[in-house]
Amino acid sequence: MTDPVEPEQQNLSDPHPPLMFKRLGLNHVPRVLLLERECYPDPWTHGMFLQELENVNSHFFVAYLDETIIGYGGFWLLIDEAHVTRVTVNPAYRRRGYGTDIMRYLMDQAYQAGAVIMRLEVRETNIPAQKMYKKLGFVTEGRRPGYYQSTEEAAILMAYRF
Ligand SMILES: CC(C)(COP(=O)(O)OP(=O)(O)OC[C@H]1O[C@@H](n2cnc3c(N)ncnc32)[C@H](O)[C@@H]1OP(=O)(O)O)[C@@H](O)C(=O)NCCC(=O)NCCS
Repeated sequence: MTDPVEPEQQNLSDPHPPLMFKRLGLNHVPRVLLLERECYPDPWTHGMFLQELENVNSHFFVAYLDETIIGYGGFWLLIDEAHVTRVTVNPAYRRRGYGTDIMRYLMDQAYQAGAVIMRLEVRETNIPAQKMYKKLGFVTEGRRPGYYQSTEEAAILMAYRF
């Protein structure tokens, strides 16, 4: 029988169990690809994930709760600039703060690795992601028309300075 948790040990401000992060490995790729295809109009391919594994500038992580992949995200670090490549939450687990947790983890990893700025592009119509980035302190720095070739959609350019 497990001991009951004393009230003073409970973190009442923590809305969900903490995620566990692992570096992307070959074993993750099939499950990440399934989520990728479910979540993006222009999903990365198997080959692109393999390239990611080989890329020394890539910092890419998979977020778990027990055995379940909740999401994933990564960035490329070029000198002191981190560029977010992916931030994805499994659709069944959205609006619980996990996207924010994954971004905070990426920001922390980038800072520890020497980044002074983190940049990203987001589709102009992707309001959920834009709201999340703004809440995290990212500011809009520009707009690139036609950036996403498959839909000719504009990209909003956002940045966070550490
Ligand atoms: C964007 C994404 C990662 C957000 O993940 P999430 O776990 O739902 O995000 P959070 O629960 O941390 O939400 C943080 C804030 O973002 C905003 N937000 C997230 N989803 C939203 C939605 N569907 N509508 C409006 N605002 C939303 C809210 O301000 C939210 O804070 P709140 O819940 O206190 O109101 C997720 O929707 C996703 O994986 N989308 C598909 C992939 C994608 O577009 N990635 C970004 C590419 S640039």
